Amino acid sequence: MKVLVTGGAGYIGSHVVGLLIKSGHEVVVYDNLVNGNRQAVHEDATLVVGDLYDVETLKKTFDEHDFDGIMHFASQILVGESMQKPFKYFRDNVYTIINVLEQAAEHNVKRFILSSTANLFDAPNRIPIDETEPLIPGSVYGETKFMAERLLLWMDRVYGMKYCCLRYFNACGAHPDGHIGEAHDPESHLIPLVLQVALGQRENIKIFGTDYDTADGTCIRDYVHVLDLASAHILALEALEDGDSRVYNLGSGSGYSVLEVIETARKVTGHPIPAIETERRAGDLPILVADSDKIGRELGWEPQYNNLERIIETAWNWHQSHPNGYEETE
Ligand SMILES: NC(=O)c1ccc[n+]([C@@H]2O[C@H](COP(=O)([O-])OP(=O)(O)OC[C@H]3O[C@@H](n4cnc5c(N)ncnc54)[C@H](O)[C@@H]3O)[C@@H](O)[C@H]2O)c1
Repeated sequence: MKVLVTGGAGYIGSHVVGLLIKSGHEVVVYDNLVNGNRQAVHEDATLVVGDLYDVETLKKTFDEHDFDGIMHFASQILVGESMQKPFKYFRDNVYTIINVLEQAAEHNVKRFILSSTANLFDAPNRIPIDETEPLIPGSVYGETKFMAERLLLWMDRVYGMKYCCLRYFNACGAHPDGHIGEAHDPESHLIPLVLQVALGQRENIKIFGTDYDTADGTCIRDYVHVLDLASAHILALEALEDGDSRVYNLGSGSGYSVLEVIETARKVTGHPIPAIETERRAGDLPILVADSDKIGRELGWEPQYNNLERIIETAWNWHQSHPNGYEETE
């Protein structure tokens, strides 16, 4: 299939592009490179450097290629920032997907895969969290993903566009050969932050709250490897070929506390990784763990990286060889 990947120069998108190409698909990446990197884009993919606000370039890209499907990763991604700059997030995440959907509808593209998020589950009744839980966004960022999911519902009803919303829990890790990995700036995710301490780039790691109702008092999250996310995208794309629209929660099925992550990183890196205990951060839920049985049952998805040590090893391999992200290879 010929697939348009928006945000394909970013962290998760670049890993998915690699797997799409390995699986025999043709890929066009559309990215403004504001948060992505040219070096992260697979050499066999076509890169269009463009902004999703730029309807002319977007339309030209759709005119030039006959896309079978779209994977939409491009988005602003910082939960905290979204609460400080809500309009930036509504504009950057909602306005832009409308532009993509309008071109998709006009060019009769019938498959759409959305990067959605666990931030839709701010008040789960049960842990692990399955797809029947109420959708209650925990931030403006989460709300923009909720709105994107709603837009897709209407695309299906009006145009027959089949979609799959993949709600990732905590994406993490890197390609095991170390050529691509996580290079966010600013970094907000726990594993890369912890590894930056091991690299000597930070003095310590802050633990936000040690009095949660969990075994060791720190928050528990579900860390799902980026290549497992990638394989879910390929399965979803194939399933949409003649199937119905669908939504899936994507996690590894195991929860690890902040302290367990730090302890495992100490083991993997051999570095003491000093930690400082501080107050809880507003908005953090004690436990967020996915129930991903549905995608396992329906599409046969099975995460290959279900061991935290292995996940952190892949991330450590990347961070050691790229201590400043892609910068050194510019
Ligand atoms: N990283 C996680 O743990 C996580 C968890 C849940 C959901 N997600 C979602 O997954 C997707 C990818 O996340 P990521 O961590 O790879 O982020 P990322 O910032 O690394 O990648 C996003 C890419 O989109 C591009 N982009 C952003 N706005 C654009 C625009 N207007 N026009 C063109 N390109 C634009 C950026 O340059 C970047 O390359 C996002 O939609 C995010 O919300 C991520």
